[in-house]
Amino acid sequence: MNILGIETSCDETAAAIVADGTKIISTIVASSQAMHAKFGGIIPEKAAREQLKAIIPVIAEALGSREKVQELDAVAVTVGPGLIGSLLVGVETAKALSLAWNKPLIPINHLVGHIYANWLTEDTPQLPAIVLLVSGGHSELILMRNHGDFTYVGGTRDDAAGECFDKCARILNLGYPGGPAIEKAADETREPAGSLRLPRPLINEPGFDFSFSGLKTAVSRTKDTEPNFLAWELQEAVTDVLVKKTLTAAREYAVKSVLLAGGVAANKKLREKMAREIEKSGLAVTLHVPPFNLCTDNAAYIAAAAAFNNYPVPPIKIDAIPSLTIDNGLAKVA
Ligand code: KG4
Ligand code: ZN
Repeated sequence: MNILGIETSCDETAAAIVADGTKIISTIVASSQAMHAKFGGIIPEKAAREQLKAIIPVIAEALGSREKVQELDAVAVTVGPGLIGSLLVGVETAKALSLAWNKPLIPINHLVGHIYANWLTEDTPQLPAIVLLVSGGHSELILMRNHGDFTYVGGTRDDAAGECFDKCARILNLGYPGGPAIEKAADETREPAGSLRLPRPLINEPGFDFSFSGLKTAVSRTKDTEPNFLAWELQEAVTDVLVKKTLTAAREYAVKSVLLAGGVAANKKLREKMAREIEKSGLAVTLHVPPFNLCTDNAAYIAAAAAFNNYPVPPIKIDAIPSLTIDNGLAKVA
């Protein structure tokens, strides 16, 4: 089963072909990130214009040759959540291709897509699982009982983890996107640990909610501290909270696996801390972490999600839905 995935929810334009939901045949990601770096954030109208120019070359490159169309069983596309102008580029292109090629079209919730990066590896996760989905727009704990069966357990009340890194990196003049910039600065810190402590918001509160917006204020109040050390401490604070809540959820829901997903899952400190704390906890859970390049936005996980949730919808009934949540599940009927 070969699926062509298309993803344009944020500032990437991506296409990929995945076989049987697990094997990447090709994956192409074009990003307008460098253009946005100048402004310290995404300008939606500019992102969409770049995507409109990139979408056909990116799909053509993922396909390789015209003949490959015959080997496709379906097309899958991100319908939301995301920026409306960006989503429309992928959704309308996918509808046109589905009709022209006479292939089924499978609408995919971007958040569900991120989770399926964990199926693009040799090591298939056992279910049920607790998913920590942390990206620029989302910080959520999700209970995945089965394919297509997702329950929201908790999430951020304000800024997402990636958004917190992006905003703090801007305050510290470390560049954009902030997550990798904070990580690099933290790796370069020479200040001894312990000379400053940022808050760990909600870490000891009951429940599974996060709140990261206060860290911006805390970071801007301590600007006289060495920026690299501040980045180090910020990374410690965010990952401490994420790891603690994830482990508590894994215990409460008695799951077999913990899955990381989303751009922030590329963070090495988060990966190491999660592995170490799971080990220390004695819980019988296996940690799954996608390869680095599959954590941030791409189309391979969209194609993978479609293979495990193969519910085509007539193209004419599919629309972009900017405000889709995990509780909307697969977006079967868009
Ligand atoms: O999943 P993604 O590519 O796009 C969204 O759906 O939002 O995530 C992008 C987010 C950005 O906030 C970026 O700063 C963060 O992921 N990020 C990281 C790292 N790489 C990307 N955060 C921490 N450490 C990283 N290495
Ligand atoms: Zn994403």
